[in-house]
Amino acid sequence: MQNDIFGKCVKFTSAREIMAAGVYPYFKRIESAQGPEVIIEGQRKVVVCSNNYLGLTAHPKVKEASIAAIKKYGTSCTGSRFLNGTNDLHEKVERKFARFVGKESAILFTTGHHANLGALSTLVGKSDIVITDKLDHASIIDGCRLSMGEMVRYRHNDMADLERQLIKYPSNGKLIVVDGVFSMEGDIANMKDIVRLAKIYGARVMVDEAHSLGVLGETGRGIGEHFGMESDIDVLMATASKSLASIGGFIAGREEVIHYVKHMSRSLMFTASLVPAAVAAIDASLDIVEKEPERIRQLWANTRKMKEGFNALGYDTRTSDSPIIPLTIGEDMKAFQMWRMLYDEGVYTSPVVSPAVPEGQAIIRTSYMATHTDEHLDLILDAFEKVGKQLGIIPGGSKRVKSKSQKHRLKNDWSFPFTKGQMSLITKRWIKNLWSFKQ
Ligand SMILES: Cc1ncc(COP(=O)(O)O)c(C=O)c1O
Repeated sequence: MQNDIFGKCVKFTSAREIMAAGVYPYFKRIESAQGPEVIIEGQRKVVVCSNNYLGLTAHPKVKEASIAAIKKYGTSCTGSRFLNGTNDLHEKVERKFARFVGKESAILFTTGHHANLGALSTLVGKSDIVITDKLDHASIIDGCRLSMGEMVRYRHNDMADLERQLIKYPSNGKLIVVDGVFSMEGDIANMKDIVRLAKIYGARVMVDEAHSLGVLGETGRGIGEHFGMESDIDVLMATASKSLASIGGFIAGREEVIHYVKHMSRSLMFTASLVPAAVAAIDASLDIVEKEPERIRQLWANTRKMKEGFNALGYDTRTSDSPIIPLTIGEDMKAFQMWRMLYDEGVYTSPVVSPAVPEGQAIIRTSYMATHTDEHLDLILDAFEKVGKQLGIIPGGSKRVKSKSQKHRLKNDWSFPFTKGQMSLITKRWIKNLWSFKQ
């Protein structure tokens, strides 16, 4: 067939080439519950690529709440929030979340991605400007693209560049949108200066708290609590798929703003509502975040141990200031190779390669949970020490003091099948499509 729209599918071979080489790190089939350990291909792996920051996916109260919700409400609401898909649980959780983050009102979408699409496409109108950090999450970019306004981007966490963009549009409505904690770098948005500039230039501020809710602030209320400036955030987005051990996305703010978003968002009105089991899990998780603040403290103790451990080994942990700790590896090929070697050592990580990160600065992204034990953390550091030395990423001698929990054995008898040139071509062809919005 001439000009067959399936032609591009037939030509798309990059992912298959990576699979054939045995270094394909994506869509791994997990055969157990999500926790600090999972079973993949029948083997135990320690997980360092999950967003289950407080480890609540295994909490008995969260599981019981979901089961009870299924018993009472069944498995689905079979309709949109707008029509037959709202029940008393959705509204209860919205009130609870709004109170938790100190906002007048909140609305619950079916996913965090939908929440960003819905809020940004409705709030940013025809002559408005939406100003984003270059490392903002894909769902923010997608929401901006769906809006009728103009999207402007400033260099990552660069306040002088943000100011340059704000100055350019003196008479337009303006919304600055940032990740509270950036999902790849693990660094924190400079809220103090963002809010200061927003006030000077008459802009509103929206923060995506996907990786900061349950993580930042003494009681896990997010970046507003961390900086003591809750009331300066005009619109707060949070996902339930990370610290809250479920799925779903909240938008919270002033009552009339939420009322507007609720009645205008296509991603709320034209999709089925969140299933009762998921809503009940959010409800129970919010209670646990409030009642068990020791989980947040443990998460930070684990984070500190890992950051210090990696730095002592000689790794560059970049600007991370959160439980997301990226490690600079270098060439894309090396990151894939390292991913596979760590996987064989029983450590399950995420490689992030160009153009998601600049050329030659591929990372292994790691992230931590309150429920990682010292033994897990030591195993991870040991694996990174061994593999990092083998690949020449860190120097030979270790400065790390080993703890008694290191009973495990490390193995490695695997060799990488690609040359540097082959690997970069294959990965670039494919990853470029995924991340093309970044360019
Ligand atoms: C910063 C950020 N915002 C939004 C989302 C989307 O949330 P969800 O996965 O719940 O749809 C994610 C998920 O990875 C994220 O990291």
